[in-house]
This record gives sequence, C-alpha cells and structure tokens, in this order.
Amino acid sequence: MSQDELKRAVAEAALDYIQVGEVIGIGTGSTANYFIDGLAAIKHKIEGAVASSVASAERLKGHGIPVFELNDVAGISVYVDGADEATRHLHLIKGGGGALTREKIVAAASRKFVCIADESKLVGRLGKFPLPVEVIPMARSLVAREMVKLGGEPVLREGFTTDNGNVILDVHNLDILDPVALEETMNNITGVVTNGLFARRPADVLLLGTPGGIQTLE
Ligand code: 5RP
Repeated sequence: MSQDELKRAVAEAALDYIQVGEVIGIGTGSTANYFIDGLAAIKHKIEGAVASSVASAERLKGHGIPVFELNDVAGISVYVDGADEATRHLHLIKGGGGALTREKIVAAASRKFVCIADESKLVGRLGKFPLPVEVIPMARSLVAREMVKLGGEPVLREGFTTDNGNVILDVHNLDILDPVALEETMNNITGVVTNGLFARRPADVLLLGTPGGIQTLE
C-alpha cells in the first residue's frame, strides 16, 4: 500500500470514534483531509465541527458540514488530527502544515484526541522532523537565538504566514529527551506563540495505518 492509501485507511478507521449528535474537532493536513472526506458520508450524525485551520474549515464547508467557532460551542467530544512524528507514549510533533497553534487549542478543548497517521510517523524519539515553532514576527531573531541556545538550528519557513498572522521557525537537530520539559521551556520564551510538541496534552489514542491493518496505541 502507498503512504496515501495508508493515510486514507487510518482516517476512515477514525470515523468509528465519532459520537452521534456531537461537535467534533478537525485537524489539518493530508490525513485530516481524508478524514473530512470520509466524514462527509456520515455528516447527518454530527452537529458540526470546529476546524484547526482556515483550509480545513473550507474543506468541511465544501462538503456541507456545519463549521462552528470554538467560542460558540460548549465542548468538543473528540478531536481527530494527523502528526509529523509520534511515539508509543503518544507524544507528537505537529505543525508541518503550520496549523500547530489552532491544533493545540482544539486539542486542549477536546475530551479525546485521536491521532491518525501512517506507520512511517512512528518514531522511537521525537526530533528528526524539524520542530515547528510559531513566533510573533517582531520576535523572530530573538526567538531564533534562544533556539540555538537550546541546541537547535532554526530555519525560517520562507514565504509562509500562519492563519494567526505569525511566522514559523522550523528547528532542526533538537535532542528531545524530555518532550514535556522542552515543550514547557519553549512555551516560556517570549515571542513564542506555540511549539509543535504535543506532550503536555498528548494524544489519547494513536491509530497507525500499516499494510497489515490499523494498529491502535493508547
Ligand atoms: C499540520 C499538522 C499535520 O497534522 C501534520 O503536518 C501531518 O500532516 P499529513 O497528514 O499531511 O502528513 O500538524 O499542522
């Protein structure tokens, strides 16, 4: 099976986590897009969705799925989203698509976070994938210097602005031994909006698409 076929299969498996009559959270990226497309067929079962990006909101609306603002809903039963890397502890690196801040907000607002990924995303230790960090534009150089102090090599994502009007530094070669501690350290750097480590609020369930079927880690 190709990587895309594995992404589609795992996205379809996540449809089983949908709770009837609820508002669900929707992530961003190609795996999340397969989930949105699968959701279209059962859209009558849900009240609607909160999206983690403008792109996902547009895709949902294109399928006729009602999209709500997070501030207008009482809560989200389940959040379904992909990842760039995932460990067996369900710690993640996210933000390859640049939507990390809204993804982290929707994940925080959700009772259950179901992460969907093809098996290539499972790693022993996070950090081969450069860690995306969303930064207030005027703090770009300041934050980049702090990233160097942490042992990373920050690279500005050229020509990219987040949905929140900020820039992304992709930080290479970080030694991520303690994802929870590093996430907190980075959160405390002035000018950082969010970093792409999802360790303080990890996934609750990790569904992996493999050629042998769907593997569930929880
Ligand atoms: C977007 C993300 C995505 O979940 C991540 O980049 C994985 O993307 P894909 O499903 O296309 O492999 O964090 O900000």
